Amino acid sequence: MESLDIYFQQVASGKEPCNLYDPITYILSQGGKRVRPNLVLLSAEMFGEKAENAFHVATAFEMLHNFTLIHDDIMDDAPIRRGKPTVYKRWNGNIAILAGDALAIMAMQELLKVPTDDATIIKISELFAQTSLEICEGQQYDLDFESEENVSIEDYIKMIRLKTAVMLAGCLKSSAILAHASEQDQQAIYDFGINIGLAFQLQDDILDLYSDVEVFGKARGGDIRENKKTYLYLVALRDADEDQRKQLLHYFSSTHFDFDEKLNAVKAVYESLSVKEKTEFVINQYVDKAKELLKSISVEEEKKQLLYQLADRLAHREK
Ligand code: IPE
Ligand code: IPE
Ligand code: MG
Ligand code: MG
Ligand code: MG
Repeated sequence: MESLDIYFQQVASGKEPCNLYDPITYILSQGGKRVRPNLVLLSAEMFGEKAENAFHVATAFEMLHNFTLIHDDIMDDAPIRRGKPTVYKRWNGNIAILAGDALAIMAMQELLKVPTDDATIIKISELFAQTSLEICEGQQYDLDFESEENVSIEDYIKMIRLKTAVMLAGCLKSSAILAHASEQDQQAIYDFGINIGLAFQLQDDILDLYSDVEVFGKARGGDIRENKKTYLYLVALRDADEDQRKQLLHYFSSTHFDFDEKLNAVKAVYESLSVKEKTEFVINQYVDKAKELLKSISVEEEKKQLLYQLADRLAHREK
């Protein structure tokens, strides 16, 4: 990943106007786990493509991801990410909107640098555009659900599939396209990505409440403050008795409660219903499903080892 970091340090550096490009360098240079470029490169290697040929697919997806984070933090009122002030806090909302727009466009430009034939670039670009649009759909559902009382677990899974899982799936499938893998293998690696992506977002929901803030790099309890219909919340509501149900609905009806009071009350309900453990159980089911899909791909098992390991690591991450 070193060359990726070097690339991101210079891709927008020194460009003007600096209020457009400095926030881009700021977010791209913060690191983060680099999960998406990692998926691009591991999938390329598994399908027998040189990692260097997939480099600009990797940069494209990581830039798209960082664009979504800049805008997501505005939508979620989030003050810190990766242990640093979010772009709209460090600069302001208008700068964050425009820097995000520019970064999304720069991400598309990356795809044109992929060293392959035009037909393949078009196929990857179609997937990239479709993925980007689906993320917007997921983000809109996420916002809509803040003020909806009747969100089902099925609605939630559909929402996180769109806002989070399709990007991981798109990374993996893009490399399969680049490597000219069979349609069947392209679908299997995509579905593997969806399943690890669902597990990834469920774990993110857990970490929003149960994390070491220093390690996770985001403020604790943001989802509860914003009335996000997370998996934890929906499981709690499903399993609650009458009194717990009333409490949950009460605290999730407004964002104006004293934050500590709300956090402690909701957390107490979650804990008495073991929602963290119930969520972890479902995470493991998605990881198992992902592994089955990976197994079905027509490549020697030894070439898949890094992806099996990544699936386990992502689902049980602390940051
Ligand atoms: C954060 O993604 C957004 C989600 C989909 C949960 P990551 O957890 O991959 O963020 P970074 O890039 O490592 O900071
Ligand atoms: C992540 O959802 C989805 C996207 C950024 C597209 P969250 O809102 O849970 O992500 P974090 O927790 O802010 O990273
Ligand atoms: Mg969000
Ligand atoms: Mg957020
Ligand atoms: Mg989150």
